[in-house]
Amino acid sequence: MAALGVLLTALWAMLPAYLPNSAAVVLGGGPPIDAGRTLGGRRLLGAGKTWRGLLGGATTGVGLAVALNALNPAARAVLDVALPVFPVAALLSLPLGAMVGDIAASFLKRRTGRNRGEPVPVMDQLDFVVGAVVLTALADPGWFTDVFTWPVLATVLVVTPVFHVGTNVVGYLLGLKDEPW
Ligand code: CTP
Ligand code: MG
Repeated sequence: MAALGVLLTALWAMLPAYLPNSAAVVLGGGPPIDAGRTLGGRRLLGAGKTWRGLLGGATTGVGLAVALNALNPAARAVLDVALPVFPVAALLSLPLGAMVGDIAASFLKRRTGRNRGEPVPVMDQLDFVVGAVVLTALADPGWFTDVFTWPVLATVLVVTPVFHVGTNVVGYLLGLKDEPW
């Protein structure tokens, strides 16, 4: 596959995993998932991981995947790339995996003594990618290996941090996020 095809495939496949985190920033708030529980004197996850963020983020990602499937034939015709169609398993696992990866990272941040919002470079940019990729590989291994070839995976790992930092800076400038990461 040509380089542009790899890039477009990587972006298209990961869009349902990219949107949930941004949607959670906008839709989040309210009761925290950990309900204030602590472990070893520290919050289990912290006040930044809420049910509204989780459900709102995941639902938004699923909605995007459904919309991308509807747009697929038109996008293929325009871009001349065999963009992936999301089966039901991937349509759920990409957004859910992204949210679970983000939550798992918060768990690790609290265990290592970091407060809410403290940056952990690399982990902050890739936690949701690892969650989405791993859950999707488990949910639909056949589709996963078809779409996420090694070049596509490598592209995802390089391009995602750039996108993530970019959207977070925009969210910060718009006053939606407390920190630019
Ligand atoms: N958010 C949410 N629920 C989630 C994920 C995110 O409500 N499951 C919202 C919260 O308002 C959070 C914001 O999105 O503050 C930004 O998310 P993130 O940067 O991941 O959280 P932090 O506040 O930085 O917390 P942590 O240190 O635990 O990552
Ligand atoms: Mg954060």
